Amino acid sequence: MGVWTLLGLLCCLAIWLSPGTQALQDVPDPRPDPSLYNLGVGIYDATGPAAGVNMMGYANPGQINSGIHMRLYSRAFLIDDTSRRLVFVSLDCGMMGQLVKIEVVKRLQMSYGDMYDHDNLLLSCTHTHSGPAGFLQYLLFDITCMGFIQETFDAMVEGVVKSIEMAHENVRPGHLYVSSGELLDSSINRSPTGYLNNPEEERAKYAYDTDKTMTLLKFVAEDGTDMGMINWFAVHPTSMNNTNTLISGDNKGYASQLFEKDMNPGALPGQGSFVAAFAQSNCGDVSPNTKGPRCIDTGLPCDMETSTCNGRVKNCIAFGPGENMMESTRIIGYNQYAKAKELYNQPDMLKLSGPVQFAEQTIDMGDYTVRFDDGTTAKTCLPALGYSFAAGTIDGPGAFDFQQGTTEGNPFWDLVSAFLHKPSKEQVDCHHPKPILLDTGEINFPYPWHPRIMDTQVGRIGNFMILPVPGEFTTMCGRRLREMVSAAAEAAGLPDTIQVVAGHSNVYSHYIATFEEYQIQRYEAASTIFGPHTCAAYMQQYAYLTTAMLKGESIPPGPPPPDLSKQVMSLLPGVIYDGTQPGYAFGDVIANPYPLAYTGETVSAKFVSGHPRNNVMLGGSFLKVQQLQPDDSWLTIATDANWETRFIWERVSSLLGTSVATVKWDIPTDTPEGTYRITHEGHYKTFFRGVDHYEGVTKPFKVVAPPVPAVNRVPLRRRVNPKKSWWQKLFFM
Ligand SMILES: *[C@@H]1O[C@H](CO)[C@@H](O)[C@H](O)[C@H]1NC(C)=O
Repeated sequence: MGVWTLLGLLCCLAIWLSPGTQALQDVPDPRPDPSLYNLGVGIYDATGPAAGVNMMGYANPGQINSGIHMRLYSRAFLIDDTSRRLVFVSLDCGMMGQLVKIEVVKRLQMSYGDMYDHDNLLLSCTHTHSGPAGFLQYLLFDITCMGFIQETFDAMVEGVVKSIEMAHENVRPGHLYVSSGELLDSSINRSPTGYLNNPEEERAKYAYDTDKTMTLLKFVAEDGTDMGMINWFAVHPTSMNNTNTLISGDNKGYASQLFEKDMNPGALPGQGSFVAAFAQSNCGDVSPNTKGPRCIDTGLPCDMETSTCNGRVKNCIAFGPGENMMESTRIIGYNQYAKAKELYNQPDMLKLSGPVQFAEQTIDMGDYTVRFDDGTTAKTCLPALGYSFAAGTIDGPGAFDFQQGTTEGNPFWDLVSAFLHKPSKEQVDCHHPKPILLDTGEINFPYPWHPRIMDTQVGRIGNFMILPVPGEFTTMCGRRLREMVSAAAEAAGLPDTIQVVAGHSNVYSHYIATFEEYQIQRYEAASTIFGPHTCAAYMQQYAYLTTAMLKGESIPPGPPPPDLSKQVMSLLPGVIYDGTQPGYAFGDVIANPYPLAYTGETVSAKFVSGHPRNNVMLGGSFLKVQQLQPDDSWLTIATDANWETRFIWERVSSLLGTSVATVKWDIPTDTPEGTYRITHEGHYKTFFRGVDHYEGVTKPFKVVAPPVPAVNRVPLRRRVNPKKSWWQKLFFM
């Protein structure tokens, strides 16, 4: 802390010594080349339990995971101007948890002292809805997953810490470049009637009702080596819908995999040195399901205002652009990848230059005073959720439907629902016109249901500003935030800033809709837990942070973020034991692939398996596709992280503890012909000896290119030689 205090004092001294000069000159940048930074990138696996655990995002208690499509990664980017450093992390997860950040800071400080702290770590999540749940410390978020799940939390912390360590270890001098461009046909507004309630003059400034701009930051070492890339684009990773049970980074995870594969030829996912993050932005009201909502029973459009079909929420679902959710994920992921590729290779990118700075403050968002230009004030409210929250969205309707009792039979909900109570009059007035369904801000039993202490933060590299926000800002609230911060920066002497909103950062507090959207009370507004002035409050707070940061003013840290790790409860039972059918051992192959497979086909294999929760295999893989090498060794060419593979796990008998793992491999058409095999490894649990490792291998099989398709093939007709002589015919020649 000493260094920062000293720096702060020096800045104050500088301001005092040079009254009247522009504030920016007060931030010393002693480097001869202000565009040369110390840069580091890192990536590490952060995949939690692969089966038996509820998935985070749709709040659908029935969505229990059963394997892996793609692994989840933490991608870390370190930028240091020799006197200050900041680290941006984009993690494939639903949202960042306060406890995750607390633990990450603790772990990093054990190794590096006060080099890393809450203020210079910007932890953001991609918002995939296909990762394991249970990592958030506030009770409400853990109801559908039956409480806190330590294995999910540990994997996330470990992944983030390891990725930052890697970035820290490989720091080298380099330059940063920025470009941006529009990506169309990849997002729609899922609450257009809410958006339309924003003032007409304001809407007239924009061509679209969602942000189409992708902004990209490119990392290049001084010697010209490509190091990495982060881009920010606002779209929900809800291409995989709430029936998916395989862990997946969704459209953003796939885009990262494509980009990294290009830049790290031959490397397995997560193993290359180039790191490509597709980070989240103000995606609150932005759906990737571009065909839009329709009624699944009738095929007709849903009711616009309420997103219902015949009064029923459940039947109004958005689809597309693909025929099924895998294809939609592939298309929306590919679109983001292709745009990022184009922006990355743009010849005239802007080179960043100038100091690195950051500012952070925790605030009590349940009690924040907003001061408007006309001199009036307003206050935020204690957290509460409105009725439309229970309805869900067109990306995942109505799973959290308390009224219809779909959470019945969930012991966690049964236990805690008794503590619900009627909201006080102040709460009702404060949240007006939101009808309160869950008055979470006034219940702290058995422990707090919702956060109040919000982590607010800004970071800056030259004139590039990152705004990590603790939730899901809607399109318009994100625009207002960027505009306000940009004006504050200009007033403080830094004109022409480029702003990116980094969504789902540091701590999660649902949605942040504008005051006008709030009046319409669609899902995003009903989920704006701190009331109608939440967006205005954040605008004021981020402008304040920006001004203070640029002027080098010290900011009181605010109330410490609560650590509930000692209080959280968990009702999800652990693995009791695993067993096999008589005559079988763990890892035995039940079904081998056919001995011959064509590229473009799907190969599958089945193994006797143990529960994946016994060990999440962090940094490893439950499966390997291997190719036979000329020296008779086996080279791994795909893992469970690859898009082309799926690891699917199924409990056969709970009583006997038997289970089967299915591995599927969609053989890419460019796969070289040769001999291949599939392996599966995992861990099983016994009563007396605890957890043990096992491994299984299929028989080798050949992969060849398919025969020329029938339409193009020269017909293989037996040619009858008309000129056969009589003796040839006689001797059957
Ligand atoms: C999820 O997607 C599948 C197609 O992949 C579709 O059949 C199903 O209706 C969708 N379900 C929901 C609830 O969106």
